[in-house]
Amino acid sequence: MIILDATSFIGKGLHRECYIHPDDSNQCVKVVVHGDLSESKREQKYYKFLQKKNIRWDIVPRFHGLVETDKGSGAVFDLIRDFNGEVSKTLEYYLSSEQLDKKEIPGICEAIATFKRELHSQAIITMTLSPKNIMYKKTAGNEGCLVLIDNIGNSDFIPVCTYITYLAKKKIARKLLRFEQTVLKMCAHNKALQKGLKT
Ligand SMILES: Nc1ncnc2c1ncn2[C@@H]1O[C@H](COP(=O)(O)OP(=O)(O)OP(=O)(O)O)[C@@H](O)[C@H]1O
Ligand SMILES: [Mg+2]
Repeated sequence: MIILDATSFIGKGLHRECYIHPDDSNQCVKVVVHGDLSESKREQKYYKFLQKKNIRWDIVPRFHGLVETDKGSGAVFDLIRDFNGEVSKTLEYYLSSEQLDKKEIPGICEAIATFKRELHSQAIITMTLSPKNIMYKKTAGNEGCLVLIDNIGNSDFIPVCTYITYLAKKKIARKLLRFEQTVLKMCAHNKALQKGLKT
């Protein structure tokens, strides 16, 4: 069993807490703190599908299985870090920032465009696409790429879209349209960034 202590805490959402793995600083462990394990089970099932499909793991972190922790069952994933070793920040952090350096804008716009293209072309299904569930992984000074860390998979009662790529892509296109609106709203205070996103 591994111990998850406060010093390795990274962040939390509504259901899970995320910690740096005590045995591997490039992995993280997620434990459920609110609700049951049904969402995690659905996520793991979809991850099995992605593993079989042999996707590139550039826009989604790898899943490394389950581990027992002092906070219950933990799901192990790649931890997203910037080029300088710092844990990456969410896209929400950058979009809503009041002091975003103008030099960051082209890199963020480029990363969003690439992410949209890749999600669609690799046909990776998501539930609501939210900037708080996407990390902006900086790969150099003012460059980076987006990695989706949550809400991956299909929550349909009968998830037939998962297995029919044509239907999967139609679903993803709809999610991406809503995502674009969310992104523009989130940076409404930053006209330069909005302009960059629209061009
Ligand atoms: N692979 C990762 N690399 C780096 N940070 C991560 C990773 N996964 C999660 N995090 C951090 O931990 C936080 C919580 O993780 P996550 O979004 O999976 O929890 P959640 O409770 O399922 O969220 P939600 O409220 O959207 O359901 C994220 O917002 C992010 O800051
Ligand atoms: Mg989340």
